[in-house]
Amino acid sequence: MRWIAGTGRLERDVLCRYTPMSSSSIHAVKASLLHCTGDPDRYSTDNIVYVPDGVMLIENGIIKTCGTADTTPIPEHASVSDFTGKLVIPGFVDTHVHYPQLDMIAAYGTQLLEWLERYTFPAEAAFCDKEHATNAASFFLDQLLTNGTTTAMVFGTVHPESVNAFFNEAHARNLRMICGKVMMDRNAPQNLLDTPEGSYQESQQLIDRWHEKGRLGYAVTPRFAPTSTAEQLRMAGRLLDENPGVHLHTHMAENADECDWVASLFPDTKDYLAVYEQFGLVRKRSMFAHAIHLSDNAWKRLAMHDASVSHCPCSNLFIGSGLFDLRSAQKHQVRVGLGTDIGAGDNVSLLRVVNEAYKVQQLQRHTLTPEHAFYLATLGGARALDLDTKIGSFEAGKEADFLVIDEQATPLLARRTASQKSWQDRLFSVLMLGDDRCIEQTWIMGKHYPTAASILR
Ligand code: GUN
Ligand code: ZN
Repeated sequence: MRWIAGTGRLERDVLCRYTPMSSSSIHAVKASLLHCTGDPDRYSTDNIVYVPDGVMLIENGIIKTCGTADTTPIPEHASVSDFTGKLVIPGFVDTHVHYPQLDMIAAYGTQLLEWLERYTFPAEAAFCDKEHATNAASFFLDQLLTNGTTTAMVFGTVHPESVNAFFNEAHARNLRMICGKVMMDRNAPQNLLDTPEGSYQESQQLIDRWHEKGRLGYAVTPRFAPTSTAEQLRMAGRLLDENPGVHLHTHMAENADECDWVASLFPDTKDYLAVYEQFGLVRKRSMFAHAIHLSDNAWKRLAMHDASVSHCPCSNLFIGSGLFDLRSAQKHQVRVGLGTDIGAGDNVSLLRVVNEAYKVQQLQRHTLTPEHAFYLATLGGARALDLDTKIGSFEAGKEADFLVIDEQATPLLARRTASQKSWQDRLFSVLMLGDDRCIEQTWIMGKHYPTAASILR
């Protein structure tokens, strides 16, 4: 196993890229299995399943069945991975992240609007270059897999090259990923601007090329209301109307100054959400990142439209945006996923995101249970992306993206979990104290993906 000089990649990563299976093959995974079948909210834990002596059977990358060792016989011809005593969980789902911003993650000293000007736009300008974009996408995806994230909804940049590079790399790894080209025709540097018509054409070409190719999906991606004219937002709505099944991905109500700016740019519109509503952008398969500064009425309308929000606590704390109101989301039954929001978020790991999500609720006198936190990082994220028929749990027929968790990954975690009696308490320890070191293996469609960490172990 060698590092390829200057790429940050292991040679084996390239050699092990996806090759479709030629014949039917059954694989059995023996482990302690943990997954959600629904939302185990504060009042019910019925929707979370823990099978200490579990067996999962996988055929051609798809889960055939999942149960106890007693009730799930392993066929004679099956190959077996024995993780007895280890926890196996569905891959994490990151519902909002910017791959071009990984290179400027953890930038010092600013809040949203200045942060965009000073750090983000210069970093994104480099993605007009195909080679730069390919290198960044490859590094980003390997980081995701090392951290146990197997599906993500991802911003590209305004350059179609950035999206082509991302999808090429995701397809080569056989990943379920959603991405889109940023639409942005005002209030940004000249070299990052497109036009309403140009963004419509380029987005359509990318949809035609990539949407539903293998495991990939396209998201129409206006950056946020301040960087799109009304004409461009209208084009975004047209793309959604003309391409059923395509997603919408944008930001909303993240920062107080941003909200004031939107009110001044759209003076005749009653609130931030209404800007998106008037162009038909609020619907099922629409993902609004942050959604912090919202009225009760806006929550009600989000629910009415069946739209989703991405809670990004690492980002909200790092650039000082505010505290997400999970209780309102739950009250109105708006689907919520978790997002790293790299590079405003300062971490790739969904475990770190869960940790901060817990603290954000604590600050509001609300307690995020271990079960609900786990749900948000797995099936909840899949539901928020409307991908829950495909991923997010171990129900039969779903794609076998899963993680082997090492509860002994660090001396502290090993010591803490040793004193925990119930699986819920052990889960909480992993969620609070864990990071990429806990992700012993990442499996994609029933195949072990050799991340750097799993090889060097
Ligand atoms: N709002 C508009 N663009 C961005 C971005 O790149 N990151 C975050 N966190 N918020 C935004
Ligand atoms: Zn973002």
